[in-house]
Amino acid sequence: MRKASLAVVGCGKLAQNQHISNIIKSKNARLHTFCDLDPKVLEDLTKRFPGTAACTDVRRVLTDPEIDGVVIATREDMHVPLAVEALAAGKYVYVEKPLAETPEECEKVITAEKVSGKKLLVGMNRRMAPAYRNAREILNRNGGARAIFYRIADAYAIDWGKNFGPGKRLLHEVCHIFDICRFLTGSDVRSVYCLSTRRDEENIVLEFESGATAMILSSGYAPWETPKEHLEAVAEVGVLTVDEFCELNTYGMPGEVPNKKYPGHSHVEKEQSHVSWIADAGLAGIVGLRRMLADRQRKVEALDHDSEEYRNGRDFLDHRLPHINYSVDKGWLGAIEHFADVILDGVPVEAATAEDALAAARITRAAVISRAEKRIVAMKDVD
Ligand SMILES: NC(=O)c1ccc[n+]([C@@H]2O[C@H](COP(=O)([O-])OP(=O)(O)OC[C@H]3O[C@@H](n4cnc5c(N)ncnc54)[C@H](O)[C@@H]3O)[C@@H](O)[C@H]2O)c1
Repeated sequence: MRKASLAVVGCGKLAQNQHISNIIKSKNARLHTFCDLDPKVLEDLTKRFPGTAACTDVRRVLTDPEIDGVVIATREDMHVPLAVEALAAGKYVYVEKPLAETPEECEKVITAEKVSGKKLLVGMNRRMAPAYRNAREILNRNGGARAIFYRIADAYAIDWGKNFGPGKRLLHEVCHIFDICRFLTGSDVRSVYCLSTRRDEENIVLEFESGATAMILSSGYAPWETPKEHLEAVAEVGVLTVDEFCELNTYGMPGEVPNKKYPGHSHVEKEQSHVSWIADAGLAGIVGLRRMLADRQRKVEALDHDSEEYRNGRDFLDHRLPHINYSVDKGWLGAIEHFADVILDGVPVEAATAEDALAAARITRAAVISRAEKRIVAMKDVD
């Protein structure tokens, strides 16, 4: 089978937890080059994945005719310049979210994509999650989503996002949810109302052009035990819920399967047992896993940090187990395989596009204005 030849530009935490392993696992892509500014990162990766080229200068990637596409997973400040450069060099691009900090920067990418004739996909990967693709089909068969409630609650403000500067959660994390609400309703947003309780904790109400509404509860103060994401959608007929990407329930939707579970997500180099556990137990499986891991973290941290038991415990938690938020299928592998299909067969893009990223950036801007001025902001008034 033909395989799309890909380079990963920016090989940090996300690339190492997802894109690199997903390319290796994919049916239709192969890993050609690692590119990172940090030579130590490259040294480590080429030891772990022998046979893959490595470089610190992205121009080596962009001038290599063997490379079809680039997966850009640097931090957000480099997404736009690298994407524009890669498109100009004639490469297909998969770039992480948020595409850009502002709508204006997204527009630069849209222009570059049009000029290049190549395609660019954005890593708002929930569109490719099996549970959400099913959810959209079910909602559409039942008259479409009318009212949505979405909870995304994690440890952003107290852990991994705390150094990003105040109020960045809307841009970094909630952009995924703005995008998935547009995907599920098939509609653009007409107005936004956002109230904040404290930094990185918001309730946001979206009114759609279709007349649908969505209410998003986003909190960066939820400990790791908390199930991170819950979707509830009232359709014209019946109700659908999706919990943690692994359990979908329908209520009062004749002809639809009332309960469906989805396997967890993992990679060959990591522990696998949770994959079938989650497939069997759904939400209860991931909740159990979260509680067990939190308990194990506390027990390991209570050990003497110079002991072998501590080192083994940390090694298991940090290297053998997948990160809890990467244990369910949020669409990362599907997005990479779809990227390869776009490159190899020119299939229409079903993942998020630069236009979708622009829409998410405009909603984010409206939410930031609404939060500051405590008023409903109409999208037509957002530049
Ligand atoms: N879609 C998702 O589910 C998801 C999840 C987590 C993070 N992300 C996004 O992924 C991106 C990366 O996050 P991360 O946590 O992996 O960051 P990170 O800081 O761990 O990694 C970034 C890497 O990029 C490298 N880099 C920086 N500039 C470069 C350049 N010009 N050329 C080559 N390499 C360069 C750095 O050396 C670093 O190794 C962010 O935009 C983040 O928002 C997406």
